[in-house]
Amino acid sequence: MALVTSKEMFKKAYDGGYAIGAFNVNNMEIIQGITEAAIEKRAPLILQVSKGARAYAKHVYLMKLIEAAIQDAEQTAGFDLPIVVHLDHGDSFELCKSCIDGGFTSVMIDKSGLPFEENIKITKQVVEYAHDHGVVVEAELGTLAGVEDEVNVSAEDSSYTRAEDVEEFVKSTGCDSLAIAIGTSHGAYKFKAEQCTRNEKGILVPPPLRFDILEDVSKRLPGFPIVLHGSSSVPQEFVKIINECGGKMPDAVGIPEEQLRQAARGAVCKINIDSDLRLAMTACIRQHFTEHPDHFDPRQYLKPARVAIKEMVEHKLVDVLGCDGKA
Ligand code: G3H
Ligand code: 13P
Ligand code: ZN
Repeated sequence: MALVTSKEMFKKAYDGGYAIGAFNVNNMEIIQGITEAAIEKRAPLILQVSKGARAYAKHVYLMKLIEAAIQDAEQTAGFDLPIVVHLDHGDSFELCKSCIDGGFTSVMIDKSGLPFEENIKITKQVVEYAHDHGVVVEAELGTLAGVEDEVNVSAEDSSYTRAEDVEEFVKSTGCDSLAIAIGTSHGAYKFKAEQCTRNEKGILVPPPLRFDILEDVSKRLPGFPIVLHGSSSVPQEFVKIINECGGKMPDAVGIPEEQLRQAARGAVCKINIDSDLRLAMTACIRQHFTEHPDHFDPRQYLKPARVAIKEMVEHKLVDVLGCDGKA
């Protein structure tokens, strides 16, 4: 099977009350870990590539690795794994065009930091080019706190999506899905300590997501796919291993899985996860070196890191997104 767009995937997800996992990819082990999990769980998949990932690994390497994953699924599992290759946080028409011309089946144009009318103008330009080439477009309204690519968005700048803007935005731009801000944010430090309470173990408990905004948006856009960025849960078992094995990540905190589960059951069709992949890999490698300080063959630590990613993604597909068996 060739790469697919998310059109059909999102329709099924919306109707079926589950969400598709969109995982950021940067190298071979990450791509293998994610795709092996999706094959095992028969889950449709979005692999997304940021501007930074493209700069790190090069477009052509990532495309060839993803093609290899599809071929591997066919050969080893006799299974057509439906994969969308998506540009994450495209910041210009030129970047989106380059990814469309280079074989991506979906792009995000993120001009959420610009005034409403300017966001509409650039998004519409990308949509026209993308649709002419059979590619779908995700756009964003509202600003997430945290780090988006190289741009720092401080917590003070975060602003929830204004539900009253979404119909005009979708109608004027023709976008195929919409990322909204309801309290998620990027990275492993999603909230400051003063925004949270602490549980009995002293671990930060973040403020709940704004499900009222999500509900309002979904009423205004019935059947339209909604996307959540910044949806890593920052599993505390990884943070603990990192801190016990020479790392320093005090007060790293993410979105509780129960809230993501709730979002996936509703209008949210795509849930973005990157930081949790990084944490799984880093925790595994730090632990490996703590236990085997004499190792120096990258295969000795990249192989278990790939397994850690696979196990974590399997858990997300089954226990959070509910998209297992849907491919
Ligand atoms: O939302 C941002 C993603 O986590 C991408 O991060 O720019 O470091 O690849 P990156
Ligand atoms: P996390 O940092 O929560 O993994 O979010 C990733 C993301 O939104 C990629 O676009
Ligand atoms: Zn994002």
